[in-house]
Amino acid sequence: YVAGIDLGTSAVKVLLVDKHGNVKGEASSPLDMHVAAGGVREQNPDQWVDATIEALKKIVESVPEAATSIEGMSFSGQMHGLVLLDEKRQVLRPAMLWNDTRTSAECELIRTTLGEELYTYTKNPALEGFTLPKLLWVKAHEPDLFSKATSFVLPKDYLRYRLTGALHMEPSDAAGTLLFHPAKKAWSHEMCHALDIPVSMCPEIVLSTDEVGTLVRDVATQIGVSNDIKVFAGGADNACGALGAGIIAPGETLCSIGTSGVILSYEEQDIDVDGGVHFFNHAKDNVFYTMGVTLAAGYSLQWAKDQLAPNESFEALLDGIETIPPGSRGLLFTPFLNGERTPYSDASIRASWIGMDAEHTRVHLAKAVMEGITFSLNESLQLFRQAGKTINTVVSIGGGAKNPAWLQMQADIFNATVVSLENEQGPSLGAAIIAAAGCGWAPSIDMVVKKFVRRKQEFHPVKENVETYQNIFQLYQQVYKQTAEMC
Ligand code: XUL
Repeated sequence: YVAGIDLGTSAVKVLLVDKHGNVKGEASSPLDMHVAAGGVREQNPDQWVDATIEALKKIVESVPEAATSIEGMSFSGQMHGLVLLDEKRQVLRPAMLWNDTRTSAECELIRTTLGEELYTYTKNPALEGFTLPKLLWVKAHEPDLFSKATSFVLPKDYLRYRLTGALHMEPSDAAGTLLFHPAKKAWSHEMCHALDIPVSMCPEIVLSTDEVGTLVRDVATQIGVSNDIKVFAGGADNACGALGAGIIAPGETLCSIGTSGVILSYEEQDIDVDGGVHFFNHAKDNVFYTMGVTLAAGYSLQWAKDQLAPNESFEALLDGIETIPPGSRGLLFTPFLNGERTPYSDASIRASWIGMDAEHTRVHLAKAVMEGITFSLNESLQLFRQAGKTINTVVSIGGGAKNPAWLQMQADIFNATVVSLENEQGPSLGAAIIAAAGCGWAPSIDMVVKKFVRRKQEFHPVKENVETYQNIFQLYQQVYKQTAEMC
């Protein structure tokens, strides 16, 4: 077996997969997030470790032969989060997450210091969620603490460090720091010098499928495994999601709805994109992807459930959703609960429900939220199409792929065929694929992907719904402009 561990924002999820790509066990453990005014979003790195050990323990308890037959494991991780370490590799403060947006002033500093060169050195724009603005924020607001920092890592790299004792980063996650050049696969000394970040703080880079060590004894004992388990570096959750959805060739596009939502497009080479979308390394070596991000995708639906149906299931909240015609009877939602990344890059914009009618019930509110999230993703898709890409098929993973009504809605809003998979847990499956490739189960990572990723069903756009949604999408796009000044 191999174990794929996805360190997400709401939970750690683990998949146990056999040599044929069959899922033999799954477990997850929830994570807390500290949310406070001013865009503060933090987590305690110790909880990532405890939750991972707990989820792995659950797997070993439910599949007893796993105790001796996990050959390798690897990781997928929420991107960009800052974990600051001192010289003893102790965590100096809670991790500042990808959706933490308190760093607008630092983004401005990066833009004014670097100008056009920012793109030359990193191929990406300065956005609040990325790691460098967080480093600069700590430097400016917590200087004593910053002076004790000797290195920084990203969430799954810290988790892997605690499980193996070895500290590394790999290109797919390093690309999201804004201190790294994706095509050169190297830290940008120019960026470090321009912003006075010691290059020595940037950990050694290894490849996603590189073996970095084995599980430390104490952790192995806690989990209940007795053999040596090889640990492979892993990748950013979106890169792993792409592997787990089979996005490994030109022309392939992914829609992933987790806490965030992304539209991701495979790129074979280092290309110039305008700063509207991100350009990062894939977890497959020497190739890339472009991506647009909705900051509060699944998070918006979770928020709506917490407010409208706190003691019920998602199924109860969404009961009857397919009987409501497209457009939720005139109700429109914009998912800007935490500001928005693509295409607005605006941390201060806030969400809205527009067009409330006394006849609306909570299921209309819920459907409007799903539509608003999908419209937001469609804005990223539109950027790709405007840049000349032909997108006729989109593979859908994550929470958004669990519900057939939502998959059909994606097909209608994207005006593309939407494909669901046997296993919609892209990032953890991607991590398992990395471990299997690292263990040498197939001659190439592509061959592992082809064996492990199975398509399930296609959802085709319905002409009438496409037209209705195209009209509503025009209205959706006006809301940002009309409400930006209110926030
Ligand atoms: C990507 C991003 C999010 C996180 C979520 O740029 O910030 O998709 O990776 O885990």
